[in-house]
Amino acid sequence: MAPFLSSAALRRAVRAIARTLLVLPLALLVCFAGPVAAAQWDADTLTVAVNPEGSAVTFSEKEIKTGRKLFNDSCGTCHAGGITKTNQNVGLDPETLELATPPRNSVDSLVDFMKDPTSYDGEYSIADVHPSLRSSDVFVKMRDLNEDDLRLIAGYILVAPKVQGQQWGGGKIYF
Ligand code: HEC
Repeated sequence: MAPFLSSAALRRAVRAIARTLLVLPLALLVCFAGPVAAAQWDADTLTVAVNPEGSAVTFSEKEIKTGRKLFNDSCGTCHAGGITKTNQNVGLDPETLELATPPRNSVDSLVDFMKDPTSYDGEYSIADVHPSLRSSDVFVKMRDLNEDDLRLIAGYILVAPKVQGQQWGGGKIYF
């Protein structure tokens, strides 16, 4: 009578179990190491410019996480990961924001943009085509955002590249 499991099959089964036991701790590490690392943003990372005059503000991690959620909800369809889907030359990376007219690389100037967005050269309002408080009749998601929400979204836009590096805004080379 043939044995229930041939010795080759038995060896294969043992190897499969051993592999699982090896991979499991690794998988757990990957799952939990991410959030742990994210909880280590230092004050420097959380500090960004408030205005072009050079004042700074230090957000709490909780504020940035709220900002991320608001951003993903209200802006993510077009700006996920800091890019601009329909105009990749005008992304949300620090360099592009800095070179806008007026520069948009501070909390106040981003909040201002969300109230009354302008073309990249600052020449004309784009409130008709870009979500803003002025166009909340068309872009209904903007109705739920108050001044403090706008501040947190701006904070997230400015902190994200400090955490994600070139990945935020795509670093252009990805296109
Ligand atoms: C329907 C798509 C869409 C949504 C939603 C959207 N944007 Fe934009 N955004 C754009 C486009 C397109 C541009 C480029 C405009 C231009 O041509 O100057 C842009 C430009 C910008 C800029 C200027 C970037 C720079 O480098 O000067 C900022 C800041 C910005 N968006 C912030 C936001 C924020 C914050 C939200 C959410 C409240 C948001 N956007 C939602 C499409 C969108």
